[in-house]
Amino acid sequence: MQTNSWVPLFPDQASTFAWQVDLLYAYLIIVSIAFTIPIVAAIFYFGLRYREKEKYATPDEMHGSIALETVWSIIPFVISMTIFLGGAYVYYNQFRIPDDPAMEVYVVGKQWMWKLQHETGQREINELHVPVGRKVKLTMTTEDVLHDFSIPAFRTKTDVVPGRYTYLWFEATKPGKYHLFCAEYCGLNHSGMGGFVYVMEQSDFDNWLSGNVSGQTPVEQGRDLFENKLGCASCHAGGPQQRGAKLEGIFGKEIKLVGGGTVVANEEYIRNSILNPSSQVVEGFQPIMPTFKGQVTEEQLLGLVAYIKSLSGVTGTTSSSGIAGATQAQSNSASNSTQPPRADRGNANTKGSNPNAPAANSNR
Ligand code: CUA
Repeated sequence: MQTNSWVPLFPDQASTFAWQVDLLYAYLIIVSIAFTIPIVAAIFYFGLRYREKEKYATPDEMHGSIALETVWSIIPFVISMTIFLGGAYVYYNQFRIPDDPAMEVYVVGKQWMWKLQHETGQREINELHVPVGRKVKLTMTTEDVLHDFSIPAFRTKTDVVPGRYTYLWFEATKPGKYHLFCAEYCGLNHSGMGGFVYVMEQSDFDNWLSGNVSGQTPVEQGRDLFENKLGCASCHAGGPQQRGAKLEGIFGKEIKLVGGGTVVANEEYIRNSILNPSSQVVEGFQPIMPTFKGQVTEEQLLGLVAYIKSLSGVTGTTSSSGIAGATQAQSNSASNSTQPPRADRGNANTKGSNPNAPAANSNR
């Protein structure tokens, strides 16, 4: 942990919004001091200046002062509005997840560890390796109780909630090793549920990626479940005779539901449709899909979500130039299965991330 920030009490500023949070915080402290000192001083001054000289004296009557009252209304109004606007700006930056993250990571919390998986298949526990200067999006859930994914040096944290997905994003600005914490009391070993985020130069990150066994990518895991283990494909493979709704191209689109409502097909919607299929039935279909509640783990669900996203050509790599040819090959291959292997990255990652790669190659 580096501690060379401008105030030693603070962790490093290592993300794009760290300075905004600190500036807002400094502003709040300054405003507090600017009020506290004059108020305390006035208490003492008036206490001395107007102390009781004569028992039961009748003070002079006072009348209002428009000027004074206007001033003491407008100044606090302006101050509270600047706090509100500053807070709203920081909040909007932090919790509006960018549409074009360079990289996505899936996170599952459980008592008492963080399990993370990269799009290219690499798994980590209590550690997260990311490249510097890239937008990283985390899609998070938990197997058991409420946790909270917190990286103080990035000035961001988000609750990780059972039964739903929450998101967090950041763009790290400085290579280094930063603490990762669980910031929600979650039982006996809550205090030990932490680790480190390693921010690396792009080339170091690429080396790290290719030096780690990638295994199945989330998309491949999801496809395997979809086609083989859970048999989703028997109803959802597409074509006019299918009993299940079409899944290609739906991600991010508005879906019409039986009963007239609509819903945007996001991660949450896909998850819910697997676990509670009758709650959001797509218009034109019968509520015949069985629930898969209890049959799939959170990690498998994330794989299914990743696979269904990939059917819409969504991978988190639209703006990527360097993160990997590996992920680039992945997004290209969705539309073009004849994409030649990239010479510069013809390693396990390239093949391992290609959803159209032959099964024999994809699982190593
Ligand atoms: Cu998990 Cu505290």
